[in-house]
Amino acid sequence: MKNLFLITSLLIGSALALAGRGSKSALVLVAARSTEAHPIHATDPITIWCAPDNPQVVISKATFIRLRDNEKLEPTLNPTKKNATYTFGSPSINDAGEYKCELETPHGKISHRVFIYSRPIVHSHEHFTEHEGHEFHLESTGTTIEKGESVSLTCPVTGYPKPVVKWTKDGAPLALSSSVSMEGTTVILSSVNYTDAGTYSCEAVNEYTFNGKTSKMLLVVDKMVTVRSEYQWVYPLAVIVITLVLLTTIIIFCEWRNNHAARKA
Ligand SMILES: *[C@@H]1O[C@H](CO)[C@@H](O)[C@H](O)[C@H]1NC(C)=O
Ligand SMILES: *[C@@H]1O[C@H](CO)[C@@H](O)[C@H](O)[C@H]1NC(C)=O
Repeated sequence: MKNLFLITSLLIGSALALAGRGSKSALVLVAARSTEAHPIHATDPITIWCAPDNPQVVISKATFIRLRDNEKLEPTLNPTKKNATYTFGSPSINDAGEYKCELETPHGKISHRVFIYSRPIVHSHEHFTEHEGHEFHLESTGTTIEKGESVSLTCPVTGYPKPVVKWTKDGAPLALSSSVSMEGTTVILSSVNYTDAGTYSCEAVNEYTFNGKTSKMLLVVDKMVTVRSEYQWVYPLAVIVITLVLLTTIIIFCEWRNNHAARKA
């Protein structure tokens, strides 16, 4: 019984001694537009680090694994071999996420998680402009659809942790109806009517805590939807027809006057 107690406390003791600790950091972004081809980069470098919780324990080998794509990074050990670090000189949005840190020590392996956070940003090849000079309030190109047609509105945002997306229309929470539905974070407008026209805004929010500070980050993307009559095409056609009729009338009238004048002479 005494032995069992001893073994148990030894096991617990060594398990505790072999915990790790590590960094949490966030990308410093001054704009919110990013594409697959040109992912946005942070203004500041980031160093992620991971160390045994017990300052007596030395590291013999260290690896960082980016969980998003299982990419392995080779960290450097500090001179005392008690800290493994990896520096991103110019971190991009693709570097945001969770990393697994694996430390080999004479007492066994330590596995720990470190994090690089990113506020929500748009990640799309679409064109966006800043709303009134605000970097994190964007407008995407408006869309015009005919009455009775359908359209889907996407919210192409990314960030870590994954942003929560909410939609509003003309400033009020988006009401679902027979013509307005949601599929994930995409709004589907079907058989639209004039009342469906307006500004649809997707609000993406995430939140993270490090260095004792919690940040709640917001990105707003507006898209204006215009609904036009399904008979819209009639108007230009009518203008052409009326112009033709007028021209013909003028020509006929001129001909008639010429003939008339000739007969008089
Ligand atoms: C490990 O190194 C980083 C970067 O130099 C430093 O910020 C961090 O405090 C160190 N961690 C420990 C436990 O020494
Ligand atoms: C479309 O809206 C108009 C008023 O804006 C309404 O009179 C009409 O009934 C609506 N049509 C449909 C199909 O809902």
